[in-house]
Amino acid sequence: MNNADFVARDLAVLWHPCTQMQDHEWLPLVPIRRGAGVWLEDFDGRRYLDAISSWWVNLFGHANPYISGAVARQAGQLEHVIFGGFSHEPALLLAERLVALAPPSLARCFFADNGSSAVEVALKMSYHYWRNCGVVGKSRVINLSGAYHGETLGALGVGDVGLYRDAYAELLRAPITAPSPDAYDRQPGESWADVAQRRLADMQALLEGHAHEVCAVIVEPLVQCAGGMRMHHPAYLTGLRALCDHYRVHLIADEIAVGFGRTGTLFACEQAGIAPDFLCLSKGLTGGYLPLAAVLTTDTVYQAFYADYASQRAFLHSHSYSGNPLGCAAAQATLDIFASEPVLERNRTLAAAMARETAHLVDHPHVAEVRQTGMILAIELVQDKATRTPYPWQERRGLRVYQHGLREGVLLRPLGNVVYFMPPYVITEDEIALLARVACAGIDLAVRQ
Ligand SMILES: Cc1ncc(COP(=O)(O)O)c(C=O)c1O
Repeated sequence: MNNADFVARDLAVLWHPCTQMQDHEWLPLVPIRRGAGVWLEDFDGRRYLDAISSWWVNLFGHANPYISGAVARQAGQLEHVIFGGFSHEPALLLAERLVALAPPSLARCFFADNGSSAVEVALKMSYHYWRNCGVVGKSRVINLSGAYHGETLGALGVGDVGLYRDAYAELLRAPITAPSPDAYDRQPGESWADVAQRRLADMQALLEGHAHEVCAVIVEPLVQCAGGMRMHHPAYLTGLRALCDHYRVHLIADEIAVGFGRTGTLFACEQAGIAPDFLCLSKGLTGGYLPLAAVLTTDTVYQAFYADYASQRAFLHSHSYSGNPLGCAAAQATLDIFASEPVLERNRTLAAAMARETAHLVDHPHVAEVRQTGMILAIELVQDKATRTPYPWQERRGLRVYQHGLREGVLLRPLGNVVYFMPPYVITEDEIALLARVACAGIDLAVRQ
C-alpha cells in the first residue's frame, strides 16, 4: 500500500482527534508505517523527524529495542488482569519505584489509563478527601488561566483554553480561575520571578475569599504546554505550596506533559522544592508506548479513605485497564533507562543545542520571544513585535510551519502562533540543527503576507 491508497481508505472510515476532517481535502494526512529513534516513515518511504515526541509522549525513540523487548516479554506472561481484588508484579514494582522517585511524602500510587483520567482521579480524590474528613462544601477547584488538563468533562472543566473548552462550556462546572504566572505577560522591567510574586498575590486574594468552598488548586508545573508552552518561575510553585497549606486546600500538580525529565529535572516540582498532594503522571511514563497514568498521593489522603466498609468511604473510581501490566512493563523499562544512563545530563547538552540553534530568532521581526525550560523550547510568532500583537488565529500561521515541516521531513505541530520543539531525548545535535533550520525557514514562509 502507498500513501494515497492508505489515505483514501482511512478517510472513508476514520475520525481523527483534534482535527477538522475537512482540512484533509487539501492537507495531507500522513500514514506512518514504522518508526525508529526520532524518525517516522510513511507508506511512500518518506521520513519525518518527530520534533514533538508524538504529542509529548515519546522519550527514548520509536520502537526502542529495550522497551519493546520488555513489553513483548510481559505480553508472553500476562497481558492484563482485573486490578480490583487482584494484583501483579509489574504494577507493584512500578508503584514502589514511582513512590521512591517522587517528591517526599507521596507514598501511594493509584493507576488510571490516560492523562485525562488521572486528572479526574485527582479531582475526585481531593473532593472526596474533604468529604470523608467531614469538611463540607469544598467542591470547587481553582485553576490557572491558559491551563490544559485533558478533554474528558471533568478535566476539560478545569482547563482554560477556549479552543477546547468553549464548544462544551454548557457541560462543564465552572472553576475559579486565577491569572497564570506566565512570564510572557511580564511588564517592562519585571523578571520571571517578579511575575511569580505578583501572581501569588492574586492567588492569595482568591484563596482568602474562596478557600472554604475549594478542594484543590490544579497547576501544570513550570510549563503550561497546550496553552502555548507558556512558562513560569519555580518560585510560583514554592509560594503556591505555602498558600495551599495555609488555606487548607490541596495542590494538584499535573505533570502529565512535563514529568520525566522534560523540564530538566525528573519532575518539575523538584525545581521548586515542593511536594504536591496529588502528582498526576502519564505520557512519558511509558516512554510513549502505552496508555497508562499514575496519581501519587500522601498517606494522609489515603488514610481518610481507609475505614470500615459500612462507613462508605472507599474511593469509587475504576477503569477496566487500570494498572495494565503491559503499560507497567513499558514504564519499568523507561525507568530502567533513566537509572542506567545519564539522561538528564545528556539532555542539558541537547537543550543547550536547541537554544544555540534558535538564538538568532530573537532578532526576527515576527518573533516576540524564544523561551525554554529544559527540553521544551518555544518560539512565539507575532504580527507586530513592538506591541506583541498576535496573528489572528484564523490566519493559521502555525499551520504553514507545519506544512513546510512536512515537505522538509520534520514533524512540527505548532500550537496556534507558537512553534515549539519537544523532541525525544535520543535526538542528536545534528538532528537539532536540522530541526532548527527547517523551523526557521518555515517561520520565514509563515510570516509572509
Ligand atoms: C498537562 C496535561 N494534562 C492532561 C493531559 C491529558 O492527557 P491525555 O491526552 O492522555 O488524556 C494533557 C495532554 O496533552 C496535558 O498536556
